[in-house]
Amino acid sequence: MPKLFEILTREELAPKTIMFNIFAPTVARAIQGGQFIILRVSANGERIPISISGWNRNEGSIRIIIMAAGRTSAEAIMLKVGDCFQDIVGPLGKRSHVEELDGTAVLIGGGYGTGAIIPTARDLKALGNKVIGIVGARNKDLLLLQDEMNEVCDEVIPTTNDGSMGIEGFVTHGLAKVIEREKVSYVLAVGPVPMMKAVSEMTRPNGIQTWVSLNAIMVDGTGMCGACRCTVGGKTQFACFHGPDFNGHEVNFEELQARQKMFQVQEKIALEQLNEVLV
Ligand SMILES: Cc1cc2nc3c(=O)[nH]c(=O)nc-3n(C[C@H](O)[C@H](O)[C@H](O)COP(=O)(O)OP(=O)(O)OC[C@H]3O[C@@H](n4cnc5c(N)ncnc54)[C@H](O)[C@@H]3O)c2cc1C
Ligand code: FES
Repeated sequence: MPKLFEILTREELAPKTIMFNIFAPTVARAIQGGQFIILRVSANGERIPISISGWNRNEGSIRIIIMAAGRTSAEAIMLKVGDCFQDIVGPLGKRSHVEELDGTAVLIGGGYGTGAIIPTARDLKALGNKVIGIVGARNKDLLLLQDEMNEVCDEVIPTTNDGSMGIEGFVTHGLAKVIEREKVSYVLAVGPVPMMKAVSEMTRPNGIQTWVSLNAIMVDGTGMCGACRCTVGGKTQFACFHGPDFNGHEVNFEELQARQKMFQVQEKIALEQLNEVLV
């Protein structure tokens, strides 16, 4: 029997982007698409929220993808098979919205967001919906989980900024093409804030139901500390508790982006300290 939070497998999907399977039976038993966990790498480390991209309820394992963005995520991707995360809390947040639709569902992933949309793509397809995946990256080497996306979607449209695979440009270029040719009833976008904002602006004129997963700074993940507060439809919401998915047409993205930058000075110092230790 593996130890609690032991790393069972580790795979490098792209530079600084690692997929882990972790033994976490309690989380694996209950997790659903769109939910997330909060983990710590070490006893003195900070808590970081990470989406779930899959699970095996029999084996008691969960699958996550970590892209190194700063100190804690950089420490996390250094862990090896057999190492253990300090602790994992979850499942947190609400599952992504799923329903039987009268048009196509388009699921859009950028960066680690591609992993995060996979469980919901599978759920939407199981309900009989047509599901199109759009995955974006800077170039073809950074596109994640293409085979698995093909399994859970009816069609997958890759977009790359440099045109090395699929449509040249951004995910919104792929979305515009789908909206032009068929009736789209549902969009879920998970990725960087500018991407989710651009997707929401594109679907607004047609009133397409649009969900975005807000990556606000989080601390406790249970609605107690207020760190993840954001404004949706003019009301204060806690991304960890009321979300992480919200109606993209109602989100105040400018405020979210400003709040994400609140600790930039401290984040830079923390990363420099890690780099000094590693030299
Ligand atoms: C619901 C949710 C799901 C996420 N899922 C994933 C995922 O599957 N894979 C992945 O690689 N990343 C995911 N993230 C982002 C991840 O939490 C941040 O990249 C990580 O916290 C950065 O910490 P750091 O110390 O490495 O970097 P830092 O240098 O501390 O920060 C880098 C950037 O990450 C953001 N950030 C910092 N601390 C936090 C925090 N405690 N909570 C949220 N954001 C923070 C800030 O905007 C900052 O600009 C998710 C975030 C949220 C809110
Ligand atoms: S992280 Fe504390 S309220 Fe959401």
